Amino acid sequence: MPLAAMASASSSSSRCHPTLAVALLCAIAAVSSAAAGGAGGRGPITTAGRNYTRVCDPARFAALGLDASRFRYCDASLPYADRVRDLVGRMTLEEKVRNLGDQAEGAPRVGLPPYRWWGEALHGVSDVGPGGTWFGDVVPGATSFPLVINAAAAFNESLWRAVGGAVSTEIRAMYNLGHAELTYWSPNINVVRDPRWGRASETPGEDPFVVGRYAVNFVRGMQDVGSGRTAAAGDPFARPIKVSSCCKHFAAYDVDAWFKADRLTFDAQVQERDMVETFERPFEMCIRDGDASCVMCSYNRVNGIPACADARLLTETVRDQWQLHGYIVSDCDSVRVMVRDAKWLNYTGVEATAAAMKAGLDLDCGMFWEGARDFFTTYGVDAVRQGKIMEADVDNALTNVYLTLMRLGFFDGMPEFESLGATDVCSKEHKELAADAARQGMVLLKNDAHRLPLDPNKIKSVSLVGLLEHINATDVMLGDYRGKPCRVVTPYNAIRKMVNATYVHACDNRACDTAEGMGGAARTAKIADATIVIAGLNMSVERESNDREDLLLPWNQTGWINAVAEASPYPIVLVIMSAGGVDVSFAQNNLKIGAIVWAGYPGEEGGTAIADVLFGKHNPGGRLPLTWFKNEYVNQIPMTSMALRPDAARGYPGRTYKFYDGPAVLYPFGHGLSYTNFSYASATTGATVTIPIGAWEHCKTLTYKSGAAPSPAPACPALNVASHRCDEAVSFAVTVRNTGGVGGGHVVPVYTAPPAEVGDAPRKQLVAFRRVFVPAGAAVEVPFTLNVCRDLAIVEETAYTVVPSGASAVIVGDDALELSFAVTINLAA
Ligand SMILES: *[C@@H]1O[C@H](CO)[C@@H](O)[C@H](O)[C@H]1NC(C)=O
Ligand SMILES: *[C@@H]1O[C@H](CO)[C@@H](O)[C@H](O)[C@H]1NC(C)=O
Ligand SMILES: *[C@@H]1O[C@H](CO)[C@@H](O)[C@H](O)[C@H]1NC(C)=O
Ligand SMILES: *[C@@H]1O[C@H](CO)[C@@H](O)[C@H](O)[C@H]1NC(C)=O
Ligand SMILES: *[C@@H]1O[C@H](CO)[C@@H](O)[C@H](O)[C@H]1NC(C)=O
Ligand SMILES: *[C@@H]1O[C@H](CO)[C@@H](O)[C@H](O)[C@H]1NC(C)=O
Ligand SMILES: *[C@@H]1O[C@H](CO)[C@@H](O)[C@H](O)[C@H]1NC(C)=O
Ligand SMILES: *[C@@H]1O[C@H](CO)[C@@H](O)[C@H](O)[C@H]1NC(C)=O
Repeated sequence: MPLAAMASASSSSSRCHPTLAVALLCAIAAVSSAAAGGAGGRGPITTAGRNYTRVCDPARFAALGLDASRFRYCDASLPYADRVRDLVGRMTLEEKVRNLGDQAEGAPRVGLPPYRWWGEALHGVSDVGPGGTWFGDVVPGATSFPLVINAAAAFNESLWRAVGGAVSTEIRAMYNLGHAELTYWSPNINVVRDPRWGRASETPGEDPFVVGRYAVNFVRGMQDVGSGRTAAAGDPFARPIKVSSCCKHFAAYDVDAWFKADRLTFDAQVQERDMVETFERPFEMCIRDGDASCVMCSYNRVNGIPACADARLLTETVRDQWQLHGYIVSDCDSVRVMVRDAKWLNYTGVEATAAAMKAGLDLDCGMFWEGARDFFTTYGVDAVRQGKIMEADVDNALTNVYLTLMRLGFFDGMPEFESLGATDVCSKEHKELAADAARQGMVLLKNDAHRLPLDPNKIKSVSLVGLLEHINATDVMLGDYRGKPCRVVTPYNAIRKMVNATYVHACDNRACDTAEGMGGAARTAKIADATIVIAGLNMSVERESNDREDLLLPWNQTGWINAVAEASPYPIVLVIMSAGGVDVSFAQNNLKIGAIVWAGYPGEEGGTAIADVLFGKHNPGGRLPLTWFKNEYVNQIPMTSMALRPDAARGYPGRTYKFYDGPAVLYPFGHGLSYTNFSYASATTGATVTIPIGAWEHCKTLTYKSGAAPSPAPACPALNVASHRCDEAVSFAVTVRNTGGVGGGHVVPVYTAPPAEVGDAPRKQLVAFRRVFVPAGAAVEVPFTLNVCRDLAIVEETAYTVVPSGASAVIVGDDALELSFAVTINLAA
């Protein structure tokens, strides 16, 4: 989302960027906060200072001159659906339409207060956007967890859930204090299809399965209300939720601004097979397995149709096929974008409003633009009056929206969370969870001759070289969609706690670019027992609305890193802060650079995590959630080509570890070293699964590699999983032994690969993973059960999910540590 987000973030810290687009947005933000009537910087329509914890509080009604007992929508003994019908039925068309935008005005006549829908909680509670979240007085800040790409690198599902749980607890506490609302447009679960994408920091990486599992766990952490009431007892539209979480941006959205391509006008040309296999999969998991209460549609078009006006995507897929229990919101201004930017079908505001609502959009997030509000609120009444939509369409949208608020206890309260207060925000426990998350996500990319960990008993002084913004990273580690952190522990702060003598050589303002400057950095390296270079990127290189053009380190960092390495008496340690992969080939191959750690953007406690890894207080176990490519890769593939599969005929290399098999990989997906060694063993050497094909079941043909078609051709080449019960499973266990001298966390990844003869298939695909802790010298048995239809399936050419007959492979592990066995599928026709 939204450019406005940036605008408000920048204007609040008076850092409006001088580019045209953003300057304009800064102006808009200023207009919209003026429209707020100067509510103490809290933005427009203010619900802050709310003096009620539930709408249906009789005292609240009395203060409005109303009697709550006369409003059936406040009768807690009735089903939510009846109550919502009563509420919507009381409103006039004009009142209804004033509640179709993110800044809902309410309807004082019937006791309905205003509500600000826009909330962000990507990696902690954020005050980005004109929503109801604000920091100040009793809530000066909230816990800033690592960016999502770091959390993903931990490959630990309970961590993702725990972070969602901590964030929602802080939201509930802030809600009680009038500092926040209850609806949040997080997580961002678009797959990082291209390494240049500016929003990699916000997402869990390039693998649709990992992204989907992240979504499920984060959403469950945000939404689930605890054991007693977690199960959907009967009506899923009445399942109570702690905070509403939203999976965005649907669909095929992952180009922001790359040369002339702009997300507002970009038309993603996507094959149906890629849609099912890659772009939709995390959303399907988020809705079906996470039971998210919201989906946000994206700015871009998909095969010509704006995502927010595509009935097939919103209604058929999200609402009917996946059974969303919740509401669908637009990315901010995406309805206006259809008219203003994409000029789609030359539609007017009324026509675009009607098209989006008929497609299934319930709520329009809009930014104040030349004084106008969101399109639904602006054009909704005319759209009904002109017969382009029916009032029943408006009622339907509002029903989805108010059912969500009912489930949040907005009307009735939610007693189990009402005692939360200021001490539940930035608690010691949450700060420790943020540090733990950052530690778990640290990835050791290179460690020649055990350069790391540094021994604090031997290293009495260190030299820290790099841009000050990385060494004293008060800002960079917090990334985008930040709030105000509880505090920031910088790398400098934390390393100082490990060694008394710390020399800092800052390379800002070209201080290292000249020969003399490089000499200075080199001199610093010479005086210490160890040199740590902290380098990388920041948000002016990779961010929303800002894709990269290359994968290199900017600002001449490569030059002076090499100079420092050359001058240092010992191999240096390189720490990289970035979200996307950086081409550090120069460091990979340089013997004078002994170790490389990828630290991502590790959040407010990031310095502690970095120091703990460098000095061996934590043994790193994170893995890359996306491929690190050499820069040559991006010259072979335009960012705007959506296809995942390679096409040799036109020299198209393919994307992600699943489809790219060329020489431009610097560090592969799943790469990550440890300070110890592990070994694998398994009693399973193979399995055969015979599936009798009933008359009602449906077989599909497959494409085979040239000359590899099985002969004779199988009677049933592949089984359409939708026509099958899918009870078959393959179980096995892997014994992970720590053969080194120090305990450590270890991620066991399980991939499957379809039979070798099948053409146009993924090289391998991740189907399960588990992070375990293994003490030095000990072994842990890790069980896995693969469902044949889910985990051995592929998506065939016409986008059906099928299980191919023949010998698929199960591959456990990455890099050198690998174990594999065959699972032979007999489709017995
Ligand atoms: C809540 O605040 C409103 C507006 O500030 C005021 O009119 C109303 O009397 C208050 N209600 C209660 C129950 O205190
Ligand atoms: C939109 O209007 C322009 C100018 O009148 C016209 O050239 C264009 O063909 C129209 N586009 C569509 C899709 O109708
Ligand atoms: C870096 O931060 C430390 C304390 O956080 C401060 O003492 C030091 O002056 C900072 N360095 C520079 C060059 O600003
Ligand atoms: C730092 O110096 C103090 C005082 O000389 C000493 O007590 C302490 O152990 C030293 N800390 C480290 C990490 O070397
Ligand atoms: C990123 O770093 C560069 C080089 O130090 C600096 O000029 C720029 O202001 C930084 N941008 C942000 C958003 O921090
Ligand atoms: C890189 O360093 C060279 C001199 O070595 C300097 O001319 C150039 O401006 C620097 N580039 C940046 C982006 O700082
Ligand atoms: C892991 O094993 C290899 C091969 O035996 C050895 O060279 C290496 O030092 C070991 N690494 C660790 C961290 O123990
Ligand atoms: C996974 O994360 C949870 C929650 O932070 C933590 O308790 C657990 O130790 C982690 N597991 C491993 C193996 O590191």
